[in-house]
Amino acid sequence: MSFAHVSVLAEETLNYWVHDVQGLYVDATTGAGGHSFRLLEAYPEAHLIALDQDPAALAAARETLAPYADRVSFVHGNFRDLSTVLDPAVRGAVAGILFDLGVSSPQLDNPERGFSYQHDAVLDMRMDPDSPVTAFRLVNMKSKDEIARALQDWGEERWAQRIAEFIVKARQKEPIRTTGQLVELIKAAIPASARRTGGHPARRTFQALRIWVNDELGALEEGLEAAVHTVAPGGRIVVISFHSLEDRIAKHTFRQWGQEHLGKVLTRHPVGPDEEETDTNLRARSAKLRAFERE
Ligand SMILES: C[S@@+](CC[C@H](N)C(=O)[O-])C[C@H]1O[C@@H](n2cnc3c(N)ncnc32)[C@H](O)[C@@H]1O
Repeated sequence: MSFAHVSVLAEETLNYWVHDVQGLYVDATTGAGGHSFRLLEAYPEAHLIALDQDPAALAAARETLAPYADRVSFVHGNFRDLSTVLDPAVRGAVAGILFDLGVSSPQLDNPERGFSYQHDAVLDMRMDPDSPVTAFRLVNMKSKDEIARALQDWGEERWAQRIAEFIVKARQKEPIRTTGQLVELIKAAIPASARRTGGHPARRTFQALRIWVNDELGALEEGLEAAVHTVAPGGRIVVISFHSLEDRIAKHTFRQWGQEHLGKVLTRHPVGPDEEETDTNLRARSAKLRAFERE
């Protein structure tokens, strides 16, 4: 499997993330190591802790970052546990932490992981394969109301109620095991006229399930809270988000920290990709970067 993930907002990220050329940095979402590689390449005296909850991503990052192995340590864990997974000695001493949220292209492209509505696979969607919650479990065990609310809140799916009804009806006959079965149910639930607009009909449901399986918004809130106590004075926290729910959390948290005099927001408006990047990297289109500097 190749890890052909193109790092989003690569140059802008380095500009906000790095302020101390000899600093210790944390990549809280290392993925295949794209942003990490650029940091270590550009700053020969910088050190890095590369964290990810997906062991497959970390294995790929080990390969990507091999030329700089003497300056990197790898940690498997969830960034929500940042304060416990990092060595206590680095608490308050980190120069910058990067959160490049969401799944990496290889997770999406590996059909077995069940993230994609384009491939038929078991309903999984866990970024951390050790986590007990799978999409199968949620789709087959949660109540109709819980499913509808999740699709509404995290997928902003207009047809949430109908999709939840179709799911609950179908699973009375037999469990919904695959992404393919789920896609067919979603298509049946959304009226044909509404299916002609708004992209793939399963996109919003899959986004909602992925957020739910991985508790992405809860993890982000806790991860940011831990991050603000992990960076040194002058240290930076950078968040790249891909949908409005994540961006809202970053925006509100940074604003709140500003009011609490923990430091200052460096991005009055979120930084987005330029035309060249959106032309070459589809995933970059919805990217928004926000940065905060600790006092
Ligand atoms: C968009 S990719 C990162 C890509 C990377 N910046 C690059 O340039 O190659 C996001 C990564 O973050 C990881 N991730 C998402 N949420 C996480 C969390 N709560 N804790 C740890 N890792 C997480 C995913 O497993 C995935 O590998």
